[in-house]
Amino acid sequence: MTGLFITFEGGDGAGKSSVLREVGRRLKEEGYPVLETREPGGIEIAEKIRHVILEPSHTAMDGRTEALLYAAARRQHLVEKVIPALEKGMIVLCDRFIDSSLAYQGYARGLGMDDVYRINEFAIEDQMPDLTLFFDITPEEGLARIEANKGREQNRLDLEKIDFHEKVYEAYKKLVECYDRIQVIDARPSIETVSASAYAAITPHLPSDTPGML
Ligand code: TYD
Repeated sequence: MTGLFITFEGGDGAGKSSVLREVGRRLKEEGYPVLETREPGGIEIAEKIRHVILEPSHTAMDGRTEALLYAAARRQHLVEKVIPALEKGMIVLCDRFIDSSLAYQGYARGLGMDDVYRINEFAIEDQMPDLTLFFDITPEEGLARIEANKGREQNRLDLEKIDFHEKVYEAYKKLVECYDRIQVIDARPSIETVSASAYAAITPHLPSDTPGML
């Protein structure tokens, strides 16, 4: 029995986290067993690693260190939370996964997408997502949303300059070209509209028999 592993990707301010919650709600309403998670997903070891990565005072952090730490946190979250849920036949909705590292560390930080892919391959073995939704919005629009939503806590990566976010966006576009598993969702309309598009993209991957019997 294997579940369905769906990852949500995009630049900062794309609204993917709100859409994930909405899609999760709809799937549960339909009777599907769903796990909504995000790296590091409340896994103690992974939370500690993430704290080291995102602490704003850690300005000395080397790019490769950052990439290795993300891969380490990913591994722990995968093994402790995602794989057990998939083994139970659940639909796992995960906010960010390997493509975030390829875009942020591999491309925007300039470490090289191939090298970052290799360390992630070591971290996740064969557990690639079945489907990835890329929430497409330009960095200008995404950052304007964050600005409008100022209550949100800012992390070390939110504080990067606009050209960093432009590179992240460019990288996601390249990934879309490379991988059939990635589907593009226009993230500019309202959360309701974007959620409906995301749900529609997931529907063909759902088992056609009774929900709960993946
Ligand atoms: P988070 O608070 O989760 O932001 P968001 O709501 O945009 O997902 O912060 C995660 C930050 O870490 C975000 O700026 C993207 C970045 N990141 C990487 O650079 N590499 C990665 O592998 C992951 C998972 C996240």
